[in-house]
Amino acid sequence: MQVKNKKILVTGGAGFIGSNLVELLIERGNEVTVLDDFSTGKDDNLSALSGNPKLKVVRGSILDYDLVKSLVNDVHVVFHMAVQCLRLSFTNPSLVHEVNATGTLNLLRACVDGSTAEARSSLERFVYISSSEVYGSAKHAPMGETHPLDPTTVYGASKLAGELYTLSHVHSYNLPCLVIRPFNSYGPHEHWEGASGEVIPRFAARILNGEAPIIFGDGEQTRDFTYVKETAEGMLIAAECDELVGKIVNVAYGQEVSIKRIAELLLQKLGRTDLKIQFLPERPGDVRRHFADVSLLKKTTGFQPGTNIDSGLDKFIEWFKQEFKRQPELIGSVQTKNWEA
Ligand SMILES: NC(=O)c1ccc[n+]([C@@H]2O[C@H](COP(=O)([O-])OP(=O)(O)OC[C@H]3O[C@@H](n4cnc5c(N)ncnc54)[C@H](O)[C@@H]3O)[C@@H](O)[C@H]2O)c1
Repeated sequence: MQVKNKKILVTGGAGFIGSNLVELLIERGNEVTVLDDFSTGKDDNLSALSGNPKLKVVRGSILDYDLVKSLVNDVHVVFHMAVQCLRLSFTNPSLVHEVNATGTLNLLRACVDGSTAEARSSLERFVYISSSEVYGSAKHAPMGETHPLDPTTVYGASKLAGELYTLSHVHSYNLPCLVIRPFNSYGPHEHWEGASGEVIPRFAARILNGEAPIIFGDGEQTRDFTYVKETAEGMLIAAECDELVGKIVNVAYGQEVSIKRIAELLLQKLGRTDLKIQFLPERPGDVRRHFADVSLLKKTTGFQPGTNIDSGLDKFIEWFKQEFKRQPELIGSVQTKNWEA
């Protein structure tokens, strides 16, 4: 199946990864409807596409069944990536469960309820974007798709519930679903603010403000960072692969980097090696080690991301410096001493 000149629904398409995926889908000639409640998504993220007749943006929630039902009826592909984030799962676990788990079930139900087999056959792919957080910390590495599942947060557990609901619809309704487990992404449109703020932009915001980056824990925890344009490409290519229907596949660069190394690289690249990294107590449920085995993706699609952390951070910095210039007060006021905000 080719994801080209198709009608596509992207939930959470105004978010970080979603907006990068929407750009790619439109470049390939697809017509895209974004469903986003803009709780953390931003108009800015889609500004490069403003006025493009191939993009329709619907402001609403995946929890609104009638709305969702009206949007899934004639699409060929659904990329489901609407989410409430990990750090929020400590302060508002019920909301995280409702959006991530119940919201996924709602969307799946809309794809099958009351549809004739014919209407359903127009849906060629339901792509559930899960997360490496379903694994918890590595028990062995690299971590293939059969690695034990042991989420350490309500967020990880809610993402896993979404996976199970998705795969159950393959068995019960023959819905052509696949589950993608991305590891950490970074790059343009990444959140630097509030509970959604991610480590790389938070470090960069502090350094550009002349303050030392803050690490929660000893900094030896690792993540497998993927440049977001390649996360989006991996998602699209995995969705096209017939062999992956009913399966789960990792999307990642395939190398682990410690958080301390990220801080050091950013200090060097931003010319502030004079700043001394600060260490604060670790965040609860923090995963110690993430390192993806990406051989299934490579074997089934031939795709492997090629942007290493060094050149990816250069591209990230290019984008982030422009953002900083555009809204210095906002980024200057980022509160990063607390992992919750
Ligand atoms: N960012 C990463 O490094 C990473 C890593 C692994 C997996 N993922 C997964 O990738 C997907 C996208 O993540 P992201 O980092 O782009 O997140 P994001 O927070 O930037 O985007 C999520 C989007 O969902 C929207 N949303 C939230 N609740 C909604 C609701 N009820 N109805 C409609 N829209 C709603 C938000 O407004 C936002 O635009 C998620 O499913 C996430 O679990 C992300």
